[in-house]
Amino acid sequence: MSAPSAIAARPLTAYAAGPLKGRVTVPGDKSISHRALMLGALSTGVTRLTGLLEAEDVINTARALTALGAPIEKVGEEWRVTGRGVGGLRQPAAPLDFGNSGTGTRLMLGVIAGHDMTVQLTGDASLRRRPMGRVLGPLQTMGLIVEGGRDRLPLTARGSASLVPITYELPVPSAQVKSAVLLAGLHASGETTVIESEPTRDHTERMLRHFGAELRVEAADGKTRITVFGDAELEGRDVIVPGDPSSAAFVAAAAALVPGSDITIAGVLTNPTRIGFYEVLREMGGDVTFVDEREEGGEPIADIRIRHAPLRGVHVAAHRAPSMIDEYPILAVVAAFAAGETRMDGLAELKVKESDRLAATVAGLVANGVRARAEGDTLTVEGAEVVRGGGTVATHLDHRMAMAFLTMGLASREPVSVDDTTMVATSFPEFLSLMQGLGARFGSDAGGAR
Ligand code: S3P
Repeated sequence: MSAPSAIAARPLTAYAAGPLKGRVTVPGDKSISHRALMLGALSTGVTRLTGLLEAEDVINTARALTALGAPIEKVGEEWRVTGRGVGGLRQPAAPLDFGNSGTGTRLMLGVIAGHDMTVQLTGDASLRRRPMGRVLGPLQTMGLIVEGGRDRLPLTARGSASLVPITYELPVPSAQVKSAVLLAGLHASGETTVIESEPTRDHTERMLRHFGAELRVEAADGKTRITVFGDAELEGRDVIVPGDPSSAAFVAAAAALVPGSDITIAGVLTNPTRIGFYEVLREMGGDVTFVDEREEGGEPIADIRIRHAPLRGVHVAAHRAPSMIDEYPILAVVAAFAAGETRMDGLAELKVKESDRLAATVAGLVANGVRARAEGDTLTVEGAEVVRGGGTVATHLDHRMAMAFLTMGLASREPVSVDDTTMVATSFPEFLSLMQGLGARFGSDAGGAR
């Protein structure tokens, strides 16, 4: 596991492609990969992971856990975590660098909270801009101390082996905040409860049970109360990480947009809290089928087949946002090719992702001749049969902006360029080669299309 180094921007251009065809697998789910490493480190015994996402965000989490005293190594195809038990991690010798990863940072703050140690956390320029107050607030109520009261990285956090359990109602629909509080709750004496009014991804809950934690999930008054019992004991387990539906969304979108395409993406996570994009694509007229639906490692999966079909604009209501929060940039690109208007409501959270994705998406669309606007938390895209393309899109250190607009270039009249592709390595290092294998054409300015 080597540290990601600061490298120069790598611009790239995507060119119109013929039909994209084939059967592929996408890398392991990012959310599940982070959680499996962390729960493995908090368990007794060894946790074996297959299908782990080997991308910078997850590698940074693995490096952080190793520095916290839980060694992680790759043996053949399998990753092994030697757990230290709940509360068993130790103070790292150096600051922990989470690179670009909000998930790694926020979940790890929940883990650090329950240990008597002082830890410095840092990250790249994008991560240093992102709000940490949303996790630090509840964790401070439980007993975490943040030196200097900072709510952005870099910061120094002092945990405590005697955390106080809390009941916390999420002010924003965030699985990261929910997970940070539940992970801290493992270390507190008593019951820690998180209340959510909109369902967010539930991988932490599923995996806590898988590792032997006691958890109570209750629905009342349209809300969900998730309670974890403290002073927990977790046992190392095997985890099979399914394909990431957020990464698969770019491949699926390319198939939907490029005439004649027919792609199957095998073994993709189809957890209901994650598949909003595929449901909306279907509502737009997309030809999307879930084939061979099955369960693996406590999560539903399927092979997803997508064929090109003409699309129409739809209204995407605000309550759907948590189930597709990372997919709005690519959904907006898809909407540019759909007949009529697509209106997406409730996108406040998009502004605090790896970039301000609401502003960046509008700018990228407009640069390519698409009529799009953001008003408040709503994004509206006017679709057209032919999308001009021809623009260069600023990606702002955001992997999903790069992949979304490269996908646009595969179907637009003129090529689409992005100013940087280095961040793609944070979540989907194989993106370019996988797409080329399906028939996509990319080229750097110097080299032309390949
Ligand atoms: C994630 C939750 C989401 C999502 C992120 C991964 C997680 O963030 O955008 O990519 O693994 O819990 P929020 O919790 O901020 O919505």
